[in-house]
Amino acid sequence: MFEFKLSDKVRSLKPSSTIAVTGRALELQRAGVDVVSMAAGEPDFDTPEHVKEAAYAAIRAGKTRYTPVQGIPELRETICAKFERENGLTYSPEQVTVSTGGKQALFNAFFALLDPGDEVIIPAPYWVSYPEMVAFAGGVPVAVDTQPENGYDLDPAAVARAITPRTRAIVLNSPANPTGAVYGEATLRAVAELAVKHGLLIITDEMYEHIIYDAEHLSIARFAPEHTLTINGASKAYAMTGWRIGYAAGPQALIRAMNAIQGQSTSNANSVAQWAAVAAIQDSSAFIASAREQFRRRRDRIVSGLNDLGLPTPLPQGAFYVMADTSRIHASELEAARIILDDARVAVVPGTDFRAPGRVRLSYATSFENIEKALGRMGALLSVSAR
Ligand SMILES: Cc1ncc(COP(=O)(O)O)c(C=O)c1O
Repeated sequence: MFEFKLSDKVRSLKPSSTIAVTGRALELQRAGVDVVSMAAGEPDFDTPEHVKEAAYAAIRAGKTRYTPVQGIPELRETICAKFERENGLTYSPEQVTVSTGGKQALFNAFFALLDPGDEVIIPAPYWVSYPEMVAFAGGVPVAVDTQPENGYDLDPAAVARAITPRTRAIVLNSPANPTGAVYGEATLRAVAELAVKHGLLIITDEMYEHIIYDAEHLSIARFAPEHTLTINGASKAYAMTGWRIGYAAGPQALIRAMNAIQGQSTSNANSVAQWAAVAAIQDSSAFIASAREQFRRRRDRIVSGLNDLGLPTPLPQGAFYVMADTSRIHASELEAARIILDDARVAVVPGTDFRAPGRVRLSYATSFENIEKALGRMGALLSVSAR
């Protein structure tokens, strides 16, 4: 048999543990086991009706061809208006690029920026794809740890200590996956100052900006516009994960470089999905408000429930995840996640790949009924193991 060699690059790439757990839970479900999945990384709501209508209209109007690499002008103008209205940021359409999900925008950015050995600072616990993408692009991810005791807030002094002559960029993600942390103005201003002082780029992933509870979302681009690439997308805000629309806005030279990469890889984001995104971004405030209230109710229930079970869980300010301390179940979070899946039939994601030892991530982007069911099952598991 012909044995071909895969590249060193791809062999060092770690598969997403979130996808791995979701896959294992689906496998069990297919085998007839009733698993409650708390592993999802996407809203459980349907895409709003007016967004679907815009897509049907686009198909009927024949908007089914290649689009400009950086996205249709109508969508880039809509994105500029959104930045102005919601974030107090002024961008021209030339400073905006549309990609196949925020994931591709991030991927293009790291490839546009990094040479071998260039360092990127990433607050931890982090979304698993950041360090993987940085390493895939030849860079070196440098973690700066944050702590559950203060809601995983970022200490700018710790960021400053991590800066070396090889540092090129700092990644921020507020509201954060997996911690739900939301950075306040003082933190953002301090990080912006560091970026300006050391000539660094800030890559800020604001995908969860609308899923926020007791805090206000602030864009760091307000404090260092020339040093910031803002990433956002349609997936989380408008329940459009499958449509694959993400976007980035920032310095024009960087946007051009990202367009060059995209032009030689995927060309453009899906044309119909771009028209749907125009409708979503222009007018979804009622949907956003309703989703937020449902998420808030679920968050309050799951946090109090997990704490009652003796699994200490801080109250997150944003996104739709909680980080539960599972040391009562097993010292290793990998083992704890396995036990919770096999014995309580609840799928959770071990914190290992998020750099969150001793904790697992539970997503509450699922029905209230499922949350009750998961808490009930985990409660039964704990009283069994406590005996
Ligand atoms: C923090 C964060 N950024 C980006 C993404 C990617 O979103 P998209 O569907 O736009 O690629 C996700 C999805 O899970 C995420 O959690």
